[in-house]
Amino acid sequence: MPFKAVVFDAYGTLFDVYSVQHVAEQLFPGHGAALALAWRDKQIEYTRLITQSDPDPAKGSRFYQSFWEITRRSLHYCLDRLKLDRTDGQDEALMGQYAKLSPFPENLDVLRTIKRQGLTTAILSNGSPQMLDSAVHSAGMAGLLDHVISVDGIRLFKTAPQAYALVQQNIALPLDEILFVSSNAWDALGANWFGLRTHWVNRQGLPFEALEPRPDFTGPDLRSVLTTLHIEPH
Ligand code: LAC
Repeated sequence: MPFKAVVFDAYGTLFDVYSVQHVAEQLFPGHGAALALAWRDKQIEYTRLITQSDPDPAKGSRFYQSFWEITRRSLHYCLDRLKLDRTDGQDEALMGQYAKLSPFPENLDVLRTIKRQGLTTAILSNGSPQMLDSAVHSAGMAGLLDHVISVDGIRLFKTAPQAYALVQQNIALPLDEILFVSSNAWDALGANWFGLRTHWVNRQGLPFEALEPRPDFTGPDLRSVLTTLHIEPH
């Protein structure tokens, strides 16, 4: 077994951020797909804007707001940008959906298989603790994760190195015994730059970022992580 612990990114990797598209389409017919895509991009853009603008390693960013708040604000921006009027009810419906995003279909089975091998499992996410707790529980993953690590305590978002450093602060293993799994290429790159070994889940068949290094491992869905871990899928 090449690794002793597997750390997953949450949004986009374990939970399908684009699953909000269906509710978005019901609320704003004809705009569901565009809204889901723009919402995710703006959310990530805000995390970078905030962390880059005051990356104080001791206190975190002065401009820090929880990922939940950023998610709400980026939704508002995107609705304004698409010139869609929103009511409080629509806002709550979309945010409520974000609190219980669908997991990708193979994920529970893969997590169970990894757990059965006795490996340590964890999430490292920009998500705030409450939203992660809600997503983990509604996806039925509660008993399958040993640690749910949020950057909220350090008030710096990934890809700040302090965020990836939280992994070893929670899991006492050498870096090369920990596999970091993300479907976000930028996240795999940030983790690699920090020194973690990475598996990129390329669900959309995208090219990797045009920056080095490439992830150590790549596959089309979460099942491919089992190959990286040398676990026979059943
Ligand atoms: C996460 C998002 C940003 O950290 O994918 O879970």
